[in-house]
Amino acid sequence: MEKIISYIDSNKDKYVEELKEFLKIPSVSTNPENREDVRKCAEFVKSELKAIGLENIKIYETPGHPIVYGDWLKAGEDKPTILIYGHYDVQPVDPLNLWTNPPFEPTIRNGNIYARGSADDKGQVFIHMKSIQAHMVNNGSLPVNIKFLIEGEEEIGSVNLDNFISSNKELLKCDNVVVSDSAMFDYDVPSICYGLRGLAYMQVEVTGPNRDLHSGSFGGAVNNPINALAHIIAKLKDDKGKILIDGFYDDVLPLTEKEREEFKKLPFDEKKYKEGLEINELFGEEGYSTLERASARPTLDCNGIWGGFQGEGAKTILPSKAGAKISMRLVPNQEPEKIEKLFTDFVNKIAPASVKVKVTSLHGGKGAITPIDSPAIDAAVEALRKGFGKVPLFTREGGSIPVVNTFQTLLEADTILLGFGLPDENAHSPDEHLNLSNFQRGILSIAHYLNELSKIKK
Ligand code: BES
Ligand code: ZN
Repeated sequence: MEKIISYIDSNKDKYVEELKEFLKIPSVSTNPENREDVRKCAEFVKSELKAIGLENIKIYETPGHPIVYGDWLKAGEDKPTILIYGHYDVQPVDPLNLWTNPPFEPTIRNGNIYARGSADDKGQVFIHMKSIQAHMVNNGSLPVNIKFLIEGEEEIGSVNLDNFISSNKELLKCDNVVVSDSAMFDYDVPSICYGLRGLAYMQVEVTGPNRDLHSGSFGGAVNNPINALAHIIAKLKDDKGKILIDGFYDDVLPLTEKEREEFKKLPFDEKKYKEGLEINELFGEEGYSTLERASARPTLDCNGIWGGFQGEGAKTILPSKAGAKISMRLVPNQEPEKIEKLFTDFVNKIAPASVKVKVTSLHGGKGAITPIDSPAIDAAVEALRKGFGKVPLFTREGGSIPVVNTFQTLLEADTILLGFGLPDENAHSPDEHLNLSNFQRGILSIAHYLNELSKIKK
């Protein structure tokens, strides 16, 4: 490992320059205008997998964006096979005016690299590529068998991935999956994530009169779709943060006393958390701590809302239409399809007859809990200890990576979630960035991890 460690150290600036090329590609999966850029990004991943020495590299077409695969299976049958999963697509960049530098012109400031996708997830995918390359260059081989699966639709719910996995079970067969698409608990606090939430994402469209109306002539006599929508949204949750949809909590597994004790042990600084967000008070479901609310309890949030006049000044209308995008984070055991139905039924039930309401489901995914008592987890603890000089903590996170559940069910493989982002690196928001010291220590940790995994007896 000595040679590999010093190789990684002496190449750190080069890695950053190479990462910039990856970050320059605007692979926004939800935006039809970026379709060709997303493809270009898949090509970039393909050429990178080739450059680091993988074999059987192939771009698999899907009805949406392509999936990139590559492997290296010469470590021997007595060595574990590890599937590394990540995504090369990114979230939209709006509001663009809040970026200090343009989102696809990577810039280094204060030891961070700023660009859309730097933390989520291109920078973290790159960590894996570079640690593999470090093994290849120095040893001409890898200590374990490796399969790489990098998709382009994670940010839009991995809509074609389950299908791909179920038709390619043999290709993807592995002992464990490793994913770096989450965050460390804090700077200098490496962590292994063992729980992710699921998601049900809905759209509600409300239509009133067949055209915008003069609010003086019609106001008071015709229901206003924005007002009606606001009433509907207000009835979804009470003012203490409890969700009011009938049956919503039926399948939620209560947190055990032991889990709650573990949450209390985490070094969470609530004052710093509030200060970082410039809010005076936190808000959430009664009876739960902030960490529990943000990772182990279900939620309901409006992501966007529209309708009526949005320009400068005042325009007196009663609009014809209004709409909202509403997502619910789910905890393991809650089924997205069931929640979608409960949501739709509830909204239809409370909607006034004076407007038409259309509810659609945009996408969803299941949550996951992964076991923390396995040789692959012990190896991860050791690798992070060597990479960061600290023993990692076990955490649950509130975000979703729906394929982790699919890996459990279709490949019968547990996923090890080793995140190298930080909670305040602005994933999905303007000025997304990745700490370069974590990028560097991530490469080192994964290089150690491959080595530690090779010690596991099959
Ligand atoms: N990297 C995130 C998932 C994540 C976020 C894990 C925070 C842990 C903490 C991932 O790229 C993501 O954003 N996923 C989407 C999934 C959704 C579209 C189904 C999410 O969570 O919104
Ligand atoms: Zn994301």
